[in-house]
Amino acid sequence: MKGVILAGGLGKRLEPLTRITNKHLLPVYGKPMIYYPIQALVDAGIKDILIVTGGNHAGEFLRLLGNGAEFGLKAINYTYQKGEGGIAEALKLAEHFSDNDKTVVILGDNLIEKSIKRYVRDFAKQPKGAKILLKKVDDPERFGVAEVKGNRIIKIVEKPKLPKSNYAVTGIYMYDKKVFDIAKALKPSNRGELEITDVNNEYIKRGEMTFSILDGWWSDCGTHEALLRANNLVAKAETSLRGRRPKQSL
Ligand code: DAU
Repeated sequence: MKGVILAGGLGKRLEPLTRITNKHLLPVYGKPMIYYPIQALVDAGIKDILIVTGGNHAGEFLRLLGNGAEFGLKAINYTYQKGEGGIAEALKLAEHFSDNDKTVVILGDNLIEKSIKRYVRDFAKQPKGAKILLKKVDDPERFGVAEVKGNRIIKIVEKPKLPKSNYAVTGIYMYDKKVFDIAKALKPSNRGELEITDVNNEYIKRGEMTFSILDGWWSDCGTHEALLRANNLVAKAETSLRGRRPKQSL
């Protein structure tokens, strides 16, 4: 299975922080944001990783990450998205890399507490289609929101004014090879982007979408409030982890 991290876009909601760097290079507690999705893929057993980036600071990713030795990787692949045409547009750039394999996609500003290994393992066994991870949130109108009936998703609505549930669609998506044909057939939304929600709704329409509820906390970093929240969640997790480690002698 392949792993793709989408780290393009201009991060305008984080101005002025993103005026002089890429959103995904901003610090989240002790590390640049991009470290967390890379680690999430590596922890799930995915070592073939492509980072899609863009904007004016793309070269800094290479300078920061190199070939990914810090993550135990032999190489990291990079590609460049011109402009800010949406998540599904960024994903289209991964077609050659995915090479007919299944692909786990993670948004570069999505941070999670626990391993996604078991969901990835389940998807590896799924004969076809896609799988997404949902999380109950207090502010669903900020996200793609899933309308769920029993064990089926009926529909996803992107940033609804009147959400039909509290289930946000997290930025962790698993797809079979059909995703690229689906993405290529999309038309831009009202905000001028190729929407990942339209890709997911197409899989739902075909009856090929499964989902799980993500275990542990999840946060995006798209706004100043969300970035602060992510920092606090990571800080808390790191300090409690340190508390559990045996004391080193001086
Ligand atoms: O965080 C989960 C949410 O992410 C989902 O619930 C929504 O359905 C999904 O549309 C997305 O919503 P956002 O409005 O928060 O997405 P945003 O534009 O902030 O982009 C999220 C990441 O996607 C960003 O950190 C980098 C990547 N991206 C985004 C765009 C627009 C790209 O690589 N290229 C792009 O052109």
